[in-house]
Amino acid sequence: MSNIIGGDNSFFGLDIGTTAIRLVELKGSTQPKVLHKYAFVPVDPKIAMSESKKDRQSLMDVISQLIASAKPTTRRVAVGLPANRVFTTVADVDRLSNDDMAKAIKYQADALIPTPLAESKMDWALLGDSPVDKTKQEILLSSVANNFVEARLDMLESIGLNVVAFEPDTMALARALTAPDQPGSQLIIDIGRKSTDLVVVLNGAPRLTRSIPTGVEAIIRAATQGLNVDETQAEQFVMKFGLSKEKLEGQIYQAIGSTVEILTSEIEKSIKFFQTRYAGIAIQQLIVTGGASVIPEFPLFMANKFGLNVEIGNAWRNVSFSRDRQNELMALSSQFSVAAGLAERLS
Ligand SMILES: Nc1ncnc2c1ncn2[C@@H]1O[C@H](COP(=O)(O)OP(=O)(O)OP(=O)(O)O)[C@@H](O)[C@H]1O
Ligand SMILES: [Mg+2]
Repeated sequence: MSNIIGGDNSFFGLDIGTTAIRLVELKGSTQPKVLHKYAFVPVDPKIAMSESKKDRQSLMDVISQLIASAKPTTRRVAVGLPANRVFTTVADVDRLSNDDMAKAIKYQADALIPTPLAESKMDWALLGDSPVDKTKQEILLSSVANNFVEARLDMLESIGLNVVAFEPDTMALARALTAPDQPGSQLIIDIGRKSTDLVVVLNGAPRLTRSIPTGVEAIIRAATQGLNVDETQAEQFVMKFGLSKEKLEGQIYQAIGSTVEILTSEIEKSIKFFQTRYAGIAIQQLIVTGGASVIPEFPLFMANKFGLNVEIGNAWRNVSFSRDRQNELMALSSQFSVAAGLAERLS
């Protein structure tokens, strides 16, 4: 209706992260759309993760402040769902018309998703031919607990926002950090404060997503203990010297190396898992984003570990903006992948 009356199908992307809330609004009807507005406001990680009423109120206040100061031109919003709240899997289904497929999937879903169907919101997308059974097609199925989505919806509506979509963060990452219809296979990793989200993209579509509960916080904790310094200083050391074996006689590397190894071995398991289904398909590139992507030598360490080309993800790669904003935007790129990907949705 709104299309007919006002032609207003604009919206902005909102990433409710652990350390900050971020917003991106794009304009235009042709790709790439033009950056209209971006903004962020820091949030206490304790509040962002909490389920208590008081903390939810605080989170709501922070989001309200962000909206009030950034002044997006619309109240319509596409919101990210944290990867650790979303279950995703690839499944094979019979070749059916879209209507019949929707019915068949609903019927099968109970056996595929871990939570009861009645308590979950489920979504699916057709990917194409199954790589393991030529008579079937494969779909990407995702589900999230109703109560999580409803709590977010209530919160956002109560501050006057109109939620037009919830989308898993991993889908937004894939959209933001690869070219539209990029061929081949890429591994995207977003190393955030509390967790590392991973998505393997093949021929432009996400095939495997996962959230590993190790992030920048665990790395800083290891540095705090290993170097016997306070948290602030540990963070400064990690962000300044990173995984260098030369700086400070390799002490930082000594302190955080085993935590980083835990993370890389989990990522390696996912690469193997991907390759059991997509036999013979080699991942061509590693794209790194999030807080840890700015830790010196961290992306290089990953590249060596997996024997892959590494690229620091550019959150603005599919966004158009004037050249004089290049430096300003690149400085924030590691934080904005999810918000930009949400804003790049078609609706
Ligand atoms: N320039 C920087 N200086 C200091 N620390 C930084 C810098 N950039 C990133 N960090 C670190 O990265 C962390 C945040 O990472 P990121 O922005 O990916 O987290 P998030 O999106 O809020 O969390 P999540 O994705 O887990 O919800 C910060 O807490 C900080 O430790
Ligand atoms: Mg994040």
